[in-house]
Amino acid sequence: MIMKDHRGAPVTGADTKAVELYETAICQFNCYVGDPVATVDNAIAESPDFAMAIALKAYLLLSGMERGSVANATELLAKLHNLKLNDRERRHAAAIACLIDGAFNRASERLDDILIDDPHDIVALQMGHLLDFYRGDSRNLRDRVARVLAEWDQRMPGYHTLLGMHAFGLEEMGDHARAEESARRAIQLNKRDGWAYHAVAHVMEMMGRYEEGAGFMRDNEAGWAPESFFQVHNWWHLALFRLEADQTAEALKLYDSPIRGGSSATVLDMVDAAALLWRLKLRGVDVGDRWQAIADRWQPLVEDKLYAFNDCHAVMALLGAGRIGEAERTVSILTETARKQSDNALMSRDVGLPLARALLAFEQGKYAATIDLLRPLRNIAQRFGGSHAQRDLIDLTLIEAAHRAGELSLVRALANERLTLKPKSPLARRYRDQGTKRAA
Ligand SMILES: [Fe+2]
Repeated sequence: MIMKDHRGAPVTGADTKAVELYETAICQFNCYVGDPVATVDNAIAESPDFAMAIALKAYLLLSGMERGSVANATELLAKLHNLKLNDRERRHAAAIACLIDGAFNRASERLDDILIDDPHDIVALQMGHLLDFYRGDSRNLRDRVARVLAEWDQRMPGYHTLLGMHAFGLEEMGDHARAEESARRAIQLNKRDGWAYHAVAHVMEMMGRYEEGAGFMRDNEAGWAPESFFQVHNWWHLALFRLEADQTAEALKLYDSPIRGGSSATVLDMVDAAALLWRLKLRGVDVGDRWQAIADRWQPLVEDKLYAFNDCHAVMALLGAGRIGEAERTVSILTETARKQSDNALMSRDVGLPLARALLAFEQGKYAATIDLLRPLRNIAQRFGGSHAQRDLIDLTLIEAAHRAGELSLVRALANERLTLKPKSPLARRYRDQGTKRAA
């Protein structure tokens, strides 16, 4: 008998119990709660030739953009190649092969091909969504979901996930009202959907609704925090709301406890840590020896050459810790990578390398050089991935460089831009005041 998953797609190599475990792992992945890798391991232990469980495990490993996971994923791909796969499973194996090769754009297309024929393939959809995020493809963050949404019924398992993902895509495309509505619907359907809470946080971040955003995150902590492997990033968003209100001590408290309290070695968590400390550094906040611990974590990863976005966060950590030579070494590695032919080479060439150089120039007090590097970069920075909120660090660094260089007209212009987007932001108002001093 051919087994089917809970959305009716045939799966090979599985018994009923293994399918149940696989579906549990998908639910955990959908909500970013629990340990989907351990759950899918149980599915594979139950049915060792369960192709989609093996594929899901490979995706989970690769979804963190960590070099350390590639070898395990390669073993899983070899396993898949030894199985008799159906057409959909073969296409997943091909997408995984692209991911392992760092062909992120090709992997994204392959996942889209799967979804065109099977719009209910939620694994392809969520992995594709994450790749859209890593590739900075705002339009596809919204439209990959839009292409399948009408084919779903809200009673189907995982429907909330589509709404949460669509919400994030809408937010990244600037459609804040629809984004918030979609995210709140997702939360109504599933109170543990960590990605949907995250989409609301993004909407509030982009609109400068920092008090409301902090209240929302605090009020809903029971929904997005417990047992979530995405919680550090959501705590980071709460810290951003604190920073917007100039509550730097509150932001540091969040850094010390939920953000770095567990000393996570997960790269996504380390990205948030470095980004938060850098934002504090821009404001001249003394963060004590916090940089050292995070720089120690980043240092072994600078040879990874996997993803320029990560490399830039390594540079921040190394600079923050005063390890200028090591930061320069990372810039050299990015220079080498930028000369090659790959998706990451392009990301490095266009954004990663100039940004890393700008960060280094900032640390060295070469503020005019920082400005020259960052001004052309800010409007194309989406090419190396991440969200608007994450890439705001580029604008914040530029404003601070302009301030320190005495380029107060530039500070004023950038503050005007910022205040248009976030009219109530104390931070933006402070920049505007700084820029106004020159004009007075
Ligand atoms: Fe985010």
